[in-house]
Amino acid sequence: MGYILLRNCAKMPIVGIGTYMLKGDVLKQALDFAIFKGYRHIDTALSYGNESEIGEVVADRLKNGTLRRKDLFVTTKVPPVYLAPPFVAQSVEMSLENLKMQYVDMVLIHSPWGCINRGDGQLRPINQKGERVMEHYDLLETWKAFESVYNNKLAKNIGVSNFTANQIERICQKAIIIPSNLQTECHVYLQQRRLRLYCASRGIVVSAYAPLGAPASPYRDKQHPLLLEDHVVEQLARKYKKSAAQILLNFLINNNIPVLPKSQNQNRLRENLDVIDWTMSPEDTKLLLDLDCGVKYFMFDWAKRHPEYFENEPF
Ligand SMILES: NC(=O)c1ccc[n+]([C@@H]2O[C@H](COP(=O)([O-])OP(=O)(O)OC[C@H]3O[C@@H](n4cnc5c(N)ncnc54)[C@H](OP(=O)(O)O)[C@@H]3O)[C@@H](O)[C@H]2O)c1
Repeated sequence: MGYILLRNCAKMPIVGIGTYMLKGDVLKQALDFAIFKGYRHIDTALSYGNESEIGEVVADRLKNGTLRRKDLFVTTKVPPVYLAPPFVAQSVEMSLENLKMQYVDMVLIHSPWGCINRGDGQLRPINQKGERVMEHYDLLETWKAFESVYNNKLAKNIGVSNFTANQIERICQKAIIIPSNLQTECHVYLQQRRLRLYCASRGIVVSAYAPLGAPASPYRDKQHPLLLEDHVVEQLARKYKKSAAQILLNFLINNNIPVLPKSQNQNRLRENLDVIDWTMSPEDTKLLLDLDCGVKYFMFDWAKRHPEYFENEPF
């Protein structure tokens, strides 16, 4: 498995399994198969409600000796209701307990848009109108709490997700530990060149969520074209005798972007791993570069009224 080096020389495997909306036995079977096939990077979040199942699968494999913890890269995220500094470590400790782990390899601020914490364990607090109840937390204070999580060895790396370049830069200006990862929506239709350029200047690895265009996401704007059905992508798939998904993933990987495709299907899990060690011609790569059109499948409408939501800045 190829990997990308993070700033402290930790290795982030270039293909990870996304687990958003994967739960229960379906998740356990898919993840166990994925590990068997060679996946060594798992992406989860406290808010996905699936860390316990992930913990069970990993613990079984560690116990029967078919996996070593040091070979595995696990990312989790602190949700919007836990961004107040005293809650950050609490959130990471909950994740660790669920995952049955001493540490995670990466913990991310899930989003810069905080939500109110009413102390009832509700991760998506809503008001009587059914709207999300947001709260403005000072992201620099949240980041200091992340630095403590790192210093206390609960996480080997710390980073952010769904942040704009300006938000990251605000942190970098004051941080003792610079974020080592930005996880953001990134795919052939949304190549995030500006954001990636900024992150490269700060030595921050950008990893791609929704690398296949999240065809099944309930949040996807149905007016947007399906990335997996793009004609250029389909043409290249025929030419290289690969699937459309493999073309999309290979393109990102060859741009040094770790990818986190989610699948619960064994054939597709296998396929999504077979995207390394081959390249497309420069002319064909150019065809994919030209598909960049700013289609963003995750707009997080619930957060639009938040003072840290900047619709016109890439995130
Ligand atoms: N940080 C954040 O805010 C954030 C937001 C969104 C996502 N994420 C992370 O990124 C991961 C990936 O994003 P995502 O799950 O939204 O979207 P995605 O990985 O782009 O797409 C997943 C969808 O594509 C299908 N699929 C997978 N492999 C395929 C293949 N080879 N051919 C055809 N279809 C295929 C899957 O169906 P099957 O399962 O049936 O194969 C599933 O419906 C998430 O699971 C999560 O871990 C993070």
